Amino acid sequence: MHKKGILLAGGAGTRLYPLTQIVCKQLLPIYDKPMICYPLATLMLGGLREILIISTPKDLPMLKDYLGDGSHLGVRIEYAEQPKPEGIAQAFLIGADFLGESGASLILGDNIFYGKLDFYRAALAVKYGASIFGYQVRDPQRYGVVEFGPDGRAVSLEEKPQVPKSHFAVPGLYVYDERVVEFCRSLKPSARGELEITELNCLYLERNELQVKLLTRGMAWLDTGTQSSLLEAGNYIATIEQRQGLKIACLEEVAFRVGFIDEPQLERLINRLPKGEYRDYLRLVSDEGRNPVRPEAEE
Ligand code: DAU
Repeated sequence: MHKKGILLAGGAGTRLYPLTQIVCKQLLPIYDKPMICYPLATLMLGGLREILIISTPKDLPMLKDYLGDGSHLGVRIEYAEQPKPEGIAQAFLIGADFLGESGASLILGDNIFYGKLDFYRAALAVKYGASIFGYQVRDPQRYGVVEFGPDGRAVSLEEKPQVPKSHFAVPGLYVYDERVVEFCRSLKPSARGELEITELNCLYLERNELQVKLLTRGMAWLDTGTQSSLLEAGNYIATIEQRQGLKIACLEEVAFRVGFIDEPQLERLINRLPKGEYRDYLRLVSDEGRNPVRPEAEE
């Protein structure tokens, strides 16, 4: 079934004040590029080409200014406003027209994934039901938490429980079939006044239509919710990029490698970039070609 991507990049940004006084959280730097590049790259690496970016009325113009209609990256980006942060699941109501009869994958604009994305591509290929993921963390009470039964199937989901039933947090990357909008319409705001993504996932769980796959410890799922986790995420990206000489979530490179743009299109993009390290890097990518020879290297 065809799926479209939604990137939710709104929120009040209160926890990162004063950083978020001028620019929205999702445009803050994670080392050498704006935060939004990372979740956008994840959607693109999943093969999604139709993407809706949802943000606040204040921040949307800045995001549009940066990413435009996406055509330079071989994708189609639309934009929609979320006037107030009334819940993550509200994204599907805001995006109902955009989605039409399609299924959807939602990613939160402050979630960074680094590693082999096979788990995501597999979930996108599933026709029926929903897929979410579990990731072991030290502090599960900060997240949605999934509990597994003895047979390895998910048995409960709770949003920020004081006493978590497991160490497995649910990352901000979700995949749903085309019934997601209909299910969201039946949700009621929670005590904190939000349409909760965990409630939506519970609807699928109750029907036995929720897959929860654990991400391996070889995957990095980074959080950017606090000043220190923002810095840690930046340091992590810097460490890997400096070691390998490869960039993480360089959108032009991603578009080229997944085949959304061809070599002449990449060339045109490069020629428009200001002189500097980012342009030099893309020049190397272009010279190497789409599938550089890397003996025995895993993808
Ligand atoms: O990061 C994963 C976690 O994200 C999940 O484990 C939780 O189940 C899920 O509820 C969410 O928890 P957070 O505490 O991170 O949610 P927060 O309210 O901080 O929102 C996450 C991002 O989504 C944040 O950058 C702002 C944006 N957002 C949030 C809400 C509620 C919106 O754009 N609009 C909204 O209405």
